[in-house]
Amino acid sequence: MGRVFKQAPELRAKSLVQTKCGQIICDDDGNPVPPRIDLSRNEIISSAERSLRRLCIDRLDILLLHQPTPLMQADEIAEAFAELSRSGKVRHFGLSNFTANQSTMIQRVTEQRLVINQVQISLFNPRHILDGMGATLSILEHLDLVHQRLIDAAPEWSSVRRWMPPAEGLLDYCQSEGILIQAWSPLRHRLPGAYQPLKNFGALDSAIEHIARELGSTPSAVALAWLLKHPAGIVPIMSTSNADHLIENAKAVDITLTDQDWYSLIRESVRAIEKE
Ligand SMILES: NC(=O)c1ccc[n+]([C@@H]2O[C@H](COP(=O)([O-])OP(=O)(O)OC[C@H]3O[C@@H](n4cnc5c(N)ncnc54)[C@H](OP(=O)(O)O)[C@@H]3O)[C@@H](O)[C@H]2O)c1
Repeated sequence: MGRVFKQAPELRAKSLVQTKCGQIICDDDGNPVPPRIDLSRNEIISSAERSLRRLCIDRLDILLLHQPTPLMQADEIAEAFAELSRSGKVRHFGLSNFTANQSTMIQRVTEQRLVINQVQISLFNPRHILDGMGATLSILEHLDLVHQRLIDAAPEWSSVRRWMPPAEGLLDYCQSEGILIQAWSPLRHRLPGAYQPLKNFGALDSAIEHIARELGSTPSAVALAWLLKHPAGIVPIMSTSNADHLIENAKAVDITLTDQDWYSLIRESVRAIEKE
C-alpha cells in the first residue's frame, strides 16, 4: 500500500486507512521474535508511527488495538490515544477481539470515543450472534419437534444442547454504545488466517448453495448477506486479490434474505457445531 500511495498520492483522499497495533512478532529490524501482545503507551505510539512510515501517509483514519492482553493498562492506552489524536497522526480509535467489559474499561478513561470493535463472526463461527440467545435456541429445538409431529415427519433433531457461547453480550453492548462491529473472516476459507471450527459444514454449505441457486446468486454473497441482515449493522471485512471474488462478495448488498432463510442457515450452523 505504501508503494501505491507513493506512486499515486491522489488515491489517499479516496481511501480509508485502518490498521491495528499490539501484536509483536518481529523486532524493529524485522527479525522474528517469540510472539507477544504489547499495548503499552510507547508501543501503541511507535506502532502507529511505523505504519505511517510504511504506508507513506501522514495520518491513519482508524487505529485498532489488535487484541487484549492481561498486561494492558487502560491509563496507558488512554495516554497513547490522546497523544496520537493531539498530534493528528490518528483520527479515530477502536478495538479488536475485546469483550464488552474490556471495552468499557478502556472507554471509561479514554477521551476519544471507541468507534469499532473487530471480531470474528460468520455463519461458521456465529458465537457472538448466538450469545444471549440460548433460550431461543432451546425453544426452537422444541418447536422443530412440534413441527415435525404436525407434519408427520420422523424427528430428525433432538440433541441435548452441549455447545453454548459464553455470555459476553458483545453485540448488544456495541449496538447500545454505537460501536461499529466489523466481522473478520466472514466467509469460510480453509486458508491460513481463517479460524473456523473444525467441523463438517457440508449440510450448511448445501443450505447456502440452495438459497444462492433460488436467488440466482452465489454462496459467498448469501453467507455475507446473512451477516448483513443482523440489525447490529455488522460490516464484513475480507481481503481478496481476485476481481471476480470482489464483485461476487459485493453482490451481498443486493440480497435480502427472508427471516425463514436466515433461521434455516443458523440452524444448520448450530447443528454442525454441536455435533460431536
Ligand atoms: N482482528 C483480527 O484478529 C483479525 C484476524 C484475521 C483477519 N483480520 C482482518 O480481516 C481482513 C481479511 O483477513 P484475511 O485476508 O486474513 O482473511 P479472510 O478475509 O478470511 O480470507 C481472505 C481469503 O479469502 C479469499 N476470498 C475472498 N473472497 C472470496 C470468494 N468470494 N470466494 C473464494 N475465496 C474468497 C481470498 O482469496 P482470493 O484473493 O483468491 O480472493 C483470500 O485468500 C484483514 O483486514 C485482516 O486484518 C483480522
